[in-house]
Amino acid sequence: MNVSIANVLTSTNSDSPLVSIVSFPDRCPAWGDGSYRGNCDGRLLLQLVQHYQPRSVADPMLGSGTTRDVIRDLNRTSANPIQYWGSDLRLGFNLLMQDLPGVFDLVWIHPPYWDIIRYSKDPSDLSTFEIYEEFRAALRACLGRCFAALTPGGRLAILVGDIRRNGTYTPLIRDVLNLEGELGQLRSIIIKAQHKCRSDAKTYARIEDARIMHEYCIIFKKVREAEHARGGR
Ligand SMILES: C[S@@+](CC[C@H](N)C(=O)[O-])C[C@H]1O[C@@H](n2cnc3c(N)ncnc32)[C@H](O)[C@@H]1O
Repeated sequence: MNVSIANVLTSTNSDSPLVSIVSFPDRCPAWGDGSYRGNCDGRLLLQLVQHYQPRSVADPMLGSGTTRDVIRDLNRTSANPIQYWGSDLRLGFNLLMQDLPGVFDLVWIHPPYWDIIRYSKDPSDLSTFEIYEEFRAALRACLGRCFAALTPGGRLAILVGDIRRNGTYTPLIRDVLNLEGELGQLRSIIIKAQHKCRSDAKTYARIEDARIMHEYCIIFKKVREAEHARGGR
């Protein structure tokens, strides 16, 4: 299937409802770099932007630049361009130590899958934390900075996947969901099918349990004071 930007931009629009299961078997090649390990297709971000209509978007772990490219292409035809900021440790921005530069209606973050894919040897790189509890603490600190950079009413979208290693299942989703409250109000959990992972090329003798073929986009909302008073609806 030929995935073109024009097809993608017109096949999803603000009238399409945001749904809780998504699957993009053919990566849209215009956005980010499919050869950057752990990269994601840009269409989930596109759907979030078309649904929530943020005026500003940030991505503090932009990797190959998928979110930057989606917003760039949306802005080409928009009379009201979306303000975008994105960076990454490999570009000199360290979310463990630095605040985001401003406030945003939508903060998207796609952190490393613990240490499954090592991005660098920098000790601030979340993918270098070998002890899960230390990774979890670092992730929590990073997510807290993202929440702090939300405008009132803004959304934090966190793309994470669970991990199974040597038979041990580590549900990252549980640890992120446990941060409800400090990251705002939980509003959605979107299940995203995973395609073309490097592990797909491996032949598994026989695994005892279900192979993980999905990840989650967890969406929190920073509710406004008045909404809080009404129970946050
Ligand atoms: C899963 S990748 C993001 C991939 C991206 N969504 C894409 O489509 O290309 C995670 C990124 O987190 C970055 N990272 C790890 N620790 C970081 C930190 N402390 N501050 C900022 N970025 C960090 C890595 O360099 C890596 O690019």
